[in-house]
Amino acid sequence: MTKKINIDTVVTRAGLETDSQHGAVVPPLYLSSNFAFKQFEKEQKYDYTRCGNPTRDILAEALAELEEGFGGTITSSGLSAVGLVANLINANDHVILPHDCYGGTFRLFSMLHDKGYLTAHFIDQSSLEKLEQSIVKIKPRLIWIETPSNPLLQSVDIRAIARLAKTSKALVAVDNTFLSPALQNPLTLGADIVMHSTTKYINGHSDVVGGAVIAKTKKLHDQIQDWANAMGVAGAPFDSYLTLRGLRTLNLRMKTHEKNAMGLAEVLSNNKKVGTVYYPGLESHPSHLIAQKQQKGFGGMLSFELKGGLSAVRKFFKQVEHFSLAESLGGFESLVCHPYTMTHAPLTAKEKKIAGISEGLIRISAGLEDLDDLIDGLKAGLK
Ligand SMILES: Cc1ncc(COP(=O)(O)O)c(C=O)c1O
Repeated sequence: MTKKINIDTVVTRAGLETDSQHGAVVPPLYLSSNFAFKQFEKEQKYDYTRCGNPTRDILAEALAELEEGFGGTITSSGLSAVGLVANLINANDHVILPHDCYGGTFRLFSMLHDKGYLTAHFIDQSSLEKLEQSIVKIKPRLIWIETPSNPLLQSVDIRAIARLAKTSKALVAVDNTFLSPALQNPLTLGADIVMHSTTKYINGHSDVVGGAVIAKTKKLHDQIQDWANAMGVAGAPFDSYLTLRGLRTLNLRMKTHEKNAMGLAEVLSNNKKVGTVYYPGLESHPSHLIAQKQQKGFGGMLSFELKGGLSAVRKFFKQVEHFSLAESLGGFESLVCHPYTMTHAPLTAKEKKIAGISEGLIRISAGLEDLDDLIDGLKAGLK
């Protein structure tokens, strides 16, 4: 048996030695929208960039290899990747999603539901017993998982849910955006599909919006590829080029993101102006054990409650240093955001309450800056 290649080697060497013309070490960027036919009536690998592009394919193959899937499809955004998976569902099919999934996923499946394209059920997946009852009752075609959740970093057991899904022949799709393939590989835990917003950790440089869908089997991959072509949602070659460049340092970056997140979580835990700190690396976090079991690391995202509520949040954002107030996550730069009014604004007050998102909650995407500087910046905000 050949030895499994380490993730660092996969991403470092993705696409190397593919330039047969000049031997360029970095694979060339093919911006061309079309490719000349070498011969009339003879099929060739590339003819039109919506259907296939060499630069995009290198990224797709690297991600498929990292996630241990059959094949990858690169899309124009994370949400178009979510939409591609939704296309696998037939009109009378039911879908189970987490009640606290990413707002855009919630909006898309709600809109498809309202149009009668599918029936979406948003439920709390943290209790396996309750989830099993829902699966038996609903008989879903698809179970959507997002673990860890945004912004409270709650993890669900992918392996256990995939086992339950088999009983109703449901497909299991996992949004792996928050951890990236460096820290979690859902296909190895029994999922059928992995979806990424490559906008986040995979690109990691906050200069591309993109997505990816990786399928475990050829059959699923072919269906997803067909839909990507039919809908025209393939990612642009230049975005693929940048994302591939970002991917080469993914593993290195994830280690620093995690080190900084852990350092910030510890400082916050010892500050009396701060209530609960949500970081799975802390033993106090309810998902600490499950995260330890199914993840290769705790990641770079954390949240915390400011005891003074919204007025304390306003002061914090005015005073904090070395963090930018912005949505998104997973880039080299440290960010703070207010889920209540920013990322989770589409949810009603009641939905936010159920999801545990209070007005005093602040989310941090720990970047790659020096940890001591980040701690000083955070302390300035908490003064
Ligand atoms: C967990 C998660 N999934 C999907 C998306 C959608 O990705 P994109 O913004 O690239 O369309 C996001 C974006 O924030 C996200 O955080």
